Amino acid sequence: GDEELEARILAAKETLGDRLVILGHFYQRDEVVKHADFVGDSFQLANAALTRPDADAIVFCGVHFMAETADILSRPEQNVILPNLAAGCSMADMADADSVEDCWEQLEELFGTEPDDGGRLPVIPVTYMNSSAALKAFCGRNGGIVCTSSNAATVLEWAFERGQRVLFFPDQHLGRNTAKAMGVPLTEMPMWNPHKVLGGNTEQELLDSRVILWHGFCSVHKRFTVNQIEKARAEFPGVRVIVHPECPMPVVDAADEAGSTDYIRKAIAAAAPGTTFAVGTEINMVNRLAAEFPEHTIFCLDPVICPCSTMYRIHPGYLAWVLEGLVAGEVRNRIVVETDVANHARVALERMLAARP
Ligand code: 13P
Ligand code: SF4
Repeated sequence: GDEELEARILAAKETLGDRLVILGHFYQRDEVVKHADFVGDSFQLANAALTRPDADAIVFCGVHFMAETADILSRPEQNVILPNLAAGCSMADMADADSVEDCWEQLEELFGTEPDDGGRLPVIPVTYMNSSAALKAFCGRNGGIVCTSSNAATVLEWAFERGQRVLFFPDQHLGRNTAKAMGVPLTEMPMWNPHKVLGGNTEQELLDSRVILWHGFCSVHKRFTVNQIEKARAEFPGVRVIVHPECPMPVVDAADEAGSTDYIRKAIAAAAPGTTFAVGTEINMVNRLAAEFPEHTIFCLDPVICPCSTMYRIHPGYLAWVLEGLVAGEVRNRIVVETDVANHARVALERMLAARP
């Protein structure tokens, strides 16, 4: 049962002591989050991996790309463990390295590779953290950078200083919402469909572009609608609607605010008691916020339960299993990024960690 699992996890943690660090994403279920040494958004967890160089094992309760990132940023001797190897991210899977390379070749053919008079390259690739290590490495090799939802605007500014335009992948919504807030007109943000020549665009549309958006999306956040926001406003006058920037643009436009999971948490923590929040993000996080801040009324915009089904695959049973493996001297479910890929990906990640607003 649940209590037995909890006792097993606590016993293994006790034995492992400082040799172990457990990282948990905000979207994990309570029974997992309660065991985490750090809970945060993907940017904070990437940093957290760096703060414990003494730990032998980093158990990442999140999804595959997060564990890969922790492996890239941690010392080679440290073992990064993903309790269930089936915990992937459907958005990250929407941009594969071959399709992005193919896109890049077409863009190079169209734009050339020479910088303009201001020294700006034709295109800077920007990948959302929610992508494979291979794509982060692609960005590292081609003058590009990684962003998360908490620093996307800062990173796009970094890219615009160095390039005439940006190729942004995999999440069209984060790219569009961020660039729009920075004043880039929608007409200068064509979408790239990898199944079509030139991504389904004309040469002129690409030449006039500022941000070329990959066609990926998050299946959790695309469920939120303007209709839900209108209903919330009608039912709860004065409600504050706060959504994640992976939501479609009309939803972000209709909301009062948009920001990363950490942004959402801080906004709620800082609000005057008695505030009503309608939140557009994953349900485990929203429910936990509601429990943590009982002085507010907090509910999820989507009335149908909307967990991230892949995050949910980190069941406490898997956590117990990997921890007991460590106690027995056995590293289960280790995530290893190949050295060459890791070296290039690290370049793109370090550019992100160094980029400041
Ligand atoms: P953040 O934690 O960066 O807000 O991202 C949300 C998410 O979708 C993680 O996969
Ligand atoms: Fe991927 Fe969306 Fe789940 Fe985040 S919430 S891990 S983007 S599927």
